Amino acid sequence: MQIGNLTIAEPLCLAPMAGVSDGPFRRLCRRYGANLVYSEFLSSDGLVRGTMPQQKKMAFDPEERPIGFQLFGARSETVAAAAKMLCRIKPDLIDLNFGCPVKKVVRKNGGAAILKNLDLLEEIVARAAAAIDCPLTVKMRAGFRDVVFIEAAQRAVRAGAAAITLHARTGASGYATPANWEFIKQLKEAVGVPVIGNGDIRNAPDAEAMLRQTGCDGVMIGRAALGRPWLFGQIVTYRKTGQPPPEPLLEEKFDVLLWHLAEEMKLHGDKRGLLRMRRHMAWYVRGLPAANRLRPELFAAADYQAVIGVLQAYRRQHPNADECPMAADDNEPLPLSTSSGQW
Ligand SMILES: Cc1cc2nc3c(=O)[nH]c(=O)nc-3n(C[C@H](O)[C@H](O)[C@H](O)COP(=O)(O)O)c2cc1C
Repeated sequence: MQIGNLTIAEPLCLAPMAGVSDGPFRRLCRRYGANLVYSEFLSSDGLVRGTMPQQKKMAFDPEERPIGFQLFGARSETVAAAAKMLCRIKPDLIDLNFGCPVKKVVRKNGGAAILKNLDLLEEIVARAAAAIDCPLTVKMRAGFRDVVFIEAAQRAVRAGAAAITLHARTGASGYATPANWEFIKQLKEAVGVPVIGNGDIRNAPDAEAMLRQTGCDGVMIGRAALGRPWLFGQIVTYRKTGQPPPEPLLEEKFDVLLWHLAEEMKLHGDKRGLLRMRRHMAWYVRGLPAANRLRPELFAAADYQAVIGVLQAYRRQHPNADECPMAADDNEPLPLSTSSGQW
């Protein structure tokens, strides 16, 4: 996949996920095979005002490259100024968010709400593209309420977008209806830039199916990678061999969890890092025998050593855990699918 001057070998992307796609998680997914990772979304207003949380989100490790930083905002001059500021950290690309349905973003006419005003969308893309020296890409839903993605994408490309990611459902539908991959196919036929398909990939065969069925250039994965960063490696293997890839052993899963925890604590401090990791820990143990008893024990752990203790005790109590079906059930809803007002 060629996005401007950027060549992506295996077209597997980690989705931007607020509160999740920080440095440690991006590094994990990169190591397992994600070939393009995105930051959490950053507020253009916040960046221009110089607020600390936005500044902190700009940090990344060279190991994460190629990396895209994502911005949201509803005023073209502010988005352009923020994009220009982001160029100082030399991202591989800058992505604009036209997909967020979360109330506090939409209320200020940002995210998916911009799909209600395609003149504004085009103006934002044009001004941001003119302000930066790396490729500009756009991630959008199919529309806010009405389906407008073809016109929205064509206008974005005309204004300078070098690739389009489509989360194939409308903003108003949240996660309530299944993603419509047909939209991704239609978009691929309608624009001349790379199209990255997104929505409801659960496992390696799904990723391959989206590539095949829609003809998209790349796939982006969000919720299915939560607690399963190795999914990217499984997709690489599946694409090479056509064989359903095995689940990692418990030892590897717990090693990854502990590495992730240590990195979160380094980045955010011990207390906040542990708090942020609680939902990751819940995701890591999805599908394990007696996960419902393990989760509260992990939540109660007061520090890193206590988490190690809980995991060691679990392994002693479940010596055969690796022989049980370990993968999260494919019919189970993806994490965070049902939370209202959320992504
Ligand atoms: C916790 C969470 C946070 C998200 N944050 C962002 C974000 O910052 N920017 C964005 O464009 N999309 C965000 N999304 C949407 C995802 O990038 C993706 O489009 C969506 O989850 C559909 O893909 P999936 O079915 O693979 O999860 C978020 C999703 C989740 C679950």
